[in-house]
Amino acid sequence: MSDTLSPAETPDFPMARAAGCPFDPPPQLRALQQEGPLARVRIPESGGTAWLVTTYAEQRALLADPRVSSDVTRPGFPIPAPAGSGGGIGLSFILMDDPEHARLRRMVQAAFTVRRVESMRPAVQKIVDDMIDDLLAGPKPVDLVEAFALPVPSLVICELLGVPYTDHDFFQENSKTIIKRSVAPEERAAAGGRLAHYLDDLVGRKLAEPGDDLLSRVAERVKAGDLTRQEAAQMGVLLLIAGHETTANMIALGTLALLRNPGQLALLRESDDPKLVAGAVEELLRYLNITHNGRRRIALEDIEIAGRTIRAGEGIIMANDIGNRDPSAFPDNPDELDIRRDARRHVAFGFGVHQCLGQPLARMELQVAYSTLYRRVPTLSLATDLDRVPFKHDGAVYGVYELPVTW
Ligand code: HEM
Repeated sequence: MSDTLSPAETPDFPMARAAGCPFDPPPQLRALQQEGPLARVRIPESGGTAWLVTTYAEQRALLADPRVSSDVTRPGFPIPAPAGSGGGIGLSFILMDDPEHARLRRMVQAAFTVRRVESMRPAVQKIVDDMIDDLLAGPKPVDLVEAFALPVPSLVICELLGVPYTDHDFFQENSKTIIKRSVAPEERAAAGGRLAHYLDDLVGRKLAEPGDDLLSRVAERVKAGDLTRQEAAQMGVLLLIAGHETTANMIALGTLALLRNPGQLALLRESDDPKLVAGAVEELLRYLNITHNGRRRIALEDIEIAGRTIRAGEGIIMANDIGNRDPSAFPDNPDELDIRRDARRHVAFGFGVHQCLGQPLARMELQVAYSTLYRRVPTLSLATDLDRVPFKHDGAVYGVYELPVTW
């Protein structure tokens, strides 16, 4: 069976979370998952329809299937253009297929290996310690997003790429605009254009005066003729946005989830076992799944899956937030936060060839941030009611806009 429903009968995607349940995927997604792996949904911005994949096993199978494409420029791609294209500037290899995707990804992947990332741990620990010194010396209550969650990964990715941190207001503002669903396409395009221009200029400076950083190494490859300057700038935009927004949201939302689960927070705070800390990070990634708008793809050929046929040219959305709560993959109360669970097989970083390049870095930053913050600020608490916390329901990346805390 292929698409048999008319657009008017299909539910819209994304769906709304239930009031008072900010950490849970929308209940409609759970209902669809119970009906089977595949459902049809409508994308309100474009009016098009797509297949929604709700179960963990089918999501992994499709994400690893070479018959699906990430090429956002293909007609029918299930994304409200130009949202996924970073405002018309292109978001580099995340929106390309192999061999182009692999060619560009390979140029930067050495910077994100576990070994390379581990060598950065002492520097990240120092950044986190300094930020907490400042936090404790400053007034309270304070917005944890502004004072900690956003600056930590921004400082780290700036150091790695060779982007001056003094420009953080500029790139954070424009990144925020690009990933907000409620922003008008022209506004998003303008923000994308500003970031692309900024990175192009920076690549130009690295070409003239190389430093010991990733953008300088990419600029060297431009000189060698391995990629164009435009490709280098687009890659810089991707790494800069992906490198700070996601981890920042995980730090703030993860802290809120732990504050709402004090038993789990106490376990984490009182342990100095790196394995427990690493496990807690995996479980928080699974439980919160901040990339809550699904992994978007388009079928290149007819694909038989779960007794149905996805036709070539049809859009596919892997709802990895509900996939991470699938009882057949995580049998023990998947809707509960349990930092001692083995959650390593989660799909919060995606799966297949586009699986998150920065995951070793994100993991290490989260391990350092969570374990240090709760140990050094043991009385940390929320300084407002949960229902007054502004959640990023309209963001491509879920999280909180602000998190007032005290201690
Ligand atoms: C907790 C933090 C993070 C989460 C939850 C996250 C999540 C994801 C997900 C789900 C994808 C797959 C996209 C797809 O399948 O279409 C992805 C890809 C990617 N991520 Fe992350 N990410 C995080 C941190 C980072 C960091 C720190 C970087 C560093 C620069 C980064 C760089 C990338 C890149 C470059 C890709 C594209 C990979 C490709 O297309 O081959 N991410 N991320």
